[in-house]
Amino acid sequence: MYNDIKEILITEEQIQTRVKEMGKQIYDDYQNSNLLMVGVLKGVVPFFADLMRSIDMQINIDFMSVSSYGQNSSSTGEVRILKDLDYSVIDKDVLIIEDIIDSGYTLNYLKKLFLERGAKSVRICAFLDKVDNREVDVEVEYIGYELPNEFIIGYGLDYAEKYRNLPFVASLKEEVYS
Ligand code: IMP
Ligand code: MG
Repeated sequence: MYNDIKEILITEEQIQTRVKEMGKQIYDDYQNSNLLMVGVLKGVVPFFADLMRSIDMQINIDFMSVSSYGQNSSSTGEVRILKDLDYSVIDKDVLIIEDIIDSGYTLNYLKKLFLERGAKSVRICAFLDKVDNREVDVEVEYIGYELPNEFIIGYGLDYAEKYRNLPFVASLKEEVYS
């Protein structure tokens, strides 16, 4: 697994420090709200687990699984719901949690969907942001780190469903995916 790594971009220690800061910021903003954290499976799993434990108040959680990528590493712009939420978002302050925002199609789609379904508010929290790659304009209120446009793995992020269990964020050697 480690032979395919080009460079470690964010260490385990850096991740933990940043996630705690983000949790504190979310706590400050949502103290008097009906916060529903909605995680986008599967890449968000480690970030979601760390982030929710750094928000020191009553919250609800739910998960959604969507697909826009298949086995390829470039976006098609198409979003398909594989698993919907268990509960209603009506009158909830929804915070969508994502591992990474790239083209913006996934989050743009989900934000519109939850607003249409009657959420009181919808904001976005993404641990990583490939800001130069945006194809649709989406407002992201909480961002962990901005990254250049390179294929990223680890801390939940996969290439062909592998490397999600790496505890750090890394770039993948070009020969692995080209
Ligand atoms: P978007 O719809 O293009 O913004 O894509 C967001 C989704 O694409 C994320 O939830 C990831 O699952 C996936 N993705 C985008 N960039 C990468 C990457 O560099 N590595 C792994 N997955 C990625
Ligand atoms: Mg994802």
